[in-house]
Amino acid sequence: MQWLLNLPIVLWRRLLLLLQGLGALAALIGSGIAALFGKGGTAAGRIGAALTSPTGQRRVFALLRLVQPNLVLNRRTISSYENNGITALATRRADVIDILSRDDDFGVVYAPRMKMITGGENFFLGMQDTPRYTRDVSNMRLTMRREDVPVIVTPYVEAKSADIVAMLPGVIDVPQALTQPVAAGLLDRYFGTPGPSEAAIAEWTTLLFWYLFIDLQADPDLDARARVAAADFRAWLDRHIAARRASGEIRDDVLGRCLAMGSADMPGMSDLDIRNNLIGLLIGELPTLSGTANLALDELLNRPEPFAGACAAARAGDDDLLAAHIFEALRFRPLNPVVYRRAMRDTTIAGGWLRRRRIRKDSIVMASNLSAMFDPLAIPDPARFRTDRPWETYMLWGYGMHTCFGAHINRAVLPAMLKPLLARPNLRRAAGARGQIDTDGTPFAQHLHLEFDS
Ligand code: HEM
Repeated sequence: MQWLLNLPIVLWRRLLLLLQGLGALAALIGSGIAALFGKGGTAAGRIGAALTSPTGQRRVFALLRLVQPNLVLNRRTISSYENNGITALATRRADVIDILSRDDDFGVVYAPRMKMITGGENFFLGMQDTPRYTRDVSNMRLTMRREDVPVIVTPYVEAKSADIVAMLPGVIDVPQALTQPVAAGLLDRYFGTPGPSEAAIAEWTTLLFWYLFIDLQADPDLDARARVAAADFRAWLDRHIAARRASGEIRDDVLGRCLAMGSADMPGMSDLDIRNNLIGLLIGELPTLSGTANLALDELLNRPEPFAGACAAARAGDDDLLAAHIFEALRFRPLNPVVYRRAMRDTTIAGGWLRRRRIRKDSIVMASNLSAMFDPLAIPDPARFRTDRPWETYMLWGYGMHTCFGAHINRAVLPAMLKPLLARPNLRRAAGARGQIDTDGTPFAQHLHLEFDS
C-alpha cells in the first residue's frame, strides 16, 4: 500500500518541476526583454547581468532541471586549471550529490595554484583521496577541535560582535566595521595568526581565495598580485612561527597545538608543513565568513517578512530561529553556486534518457549546490522562504570528502556575528547605492551601509 500513498507525492513533485521550469522560462524571457530595452551599458552586458544575478541563476537552473538536467557544452569555461575544453553542468540534487561523492571519478583541480601559494607543496583541499590527504586533514582536526566551537569560537564572536555594535552611532559599514574585524579577530584569538595587521591579512586571504577558486579566466594581473601576496604571506607566517617557537610561550590556540604536535615529531607537522596548512585554513576562513555574512544580511534585507522575523528572533534571543533565518537566506544566496571538479577518466553521470551523460576524461564538471537546494524532486516547497527546513537541506559549503573544514565554525559564527546588529531597533539600508553591497572590484562585499535607531 505504501507505493499508493507515495504516488501522489511523486506526481506532485514532477508537476512542481514542470511548473517551476515553465515559470522560470517565462520569467527569463521577461527579464531578457527588459534588459534588451533597458538603460546603461550594452544590451549584452545587461542580459548577462540579468542571467547571472542571484534570481537569474535560480531561474536558469530551474529551466535546466526540467529540460536539460545534465548539460554538456563543448565550451571551455575554466582556463585557470587544465581541462579538455568540455564543461558539464549538473543541476538535480541527486546528480550533484553523486558527482561530489565519486572522488575517484571527479577530482579536485586546485593543486597547481595551491603549490604556487605555498611555494611548492599542495594543501589538502587540492589533494585527491590519498593517505596524504587523510594525514593532513587528521592533523589539522586535532588542532581545530569540534569542542572549541562552543567553548572558544562562539563566545569570542558573540562578545566581539556585541562590543562592536554597542559602540556604533547608528550607522555601520558592515564588512569594514563588523564581519571582517570579527573574522580577523578569530584568526588572532583562536588560530594565533593575526597577520601583521587586519588590513594585510584581509588583503592576502581575499586575493588568494579569489585566485584559487574564482579566477576562472586566469587573469594575468590577478596572477601577478597573487604571487606577491603569497610571498608576503609565507614570509610573515615563517617569521611568526619561528618567533613563537623561539619564545617558548605555551598558548592553547591552533598554532600552539600545531607546534606541540611538531615538537612530538608527528609526521606532516614540521614548521614548514604547519605553515602550509595554516595558509590553506586562513585563506578559507576570512573572506568566506565575512562575505557570506553579508550575503545573508543582504538577502534578508530584500525580504521584509523574513527580515522582520530574523530581527525579532535576535531581539528575543531565540538563537535557533535566528540561525534558521540566516541559513534559509543563504539557500537563496550561497557564497558559491557551484562546486567544480575535473573528470579523472571517461565515465558517465546519472541514468535514464534525459539525464544520462557520457563525460570524457579531463572535462570540467560543475555540480550546482544552489540548484540542488531548489530541486522540487528532493526539497519540499523549494521556492518558499521557510525556517523549518531540516539542516540536511542546506548545501552551503560543499559536499562529500572536501566538505568545508570549517563547517561547524560557519554554522555557529554566522548567526553569532550578525545577532547584535539584527537586534538593533529599526535596522535598515542606508539610502541609495551606499545601502547596497559594494564589492569594490573583488568577489566579496567590501561595503554595505546600514542604519538603525540609537
Ligand atoms: C561561510 C563560510 C565558508 C564557506 C561558504 C566555505 C565554502 C567552502 C566550500 C564550498 C568548500 C568545498 C570546496 C570544494 O569541494 O571544492 C570548502 C572547503 C574547505 N573550507 Fe570552507 N567555507 C567557509 C568557511 C571556512 C572556514 C571558517 C574555514 C577554516 C577554518 C574553511 C576551510 C576550508 C577547508 C580547509 C576546506 C577544504 C576541506 C577538504 O578538502 O577536506 N572554510 N569551503
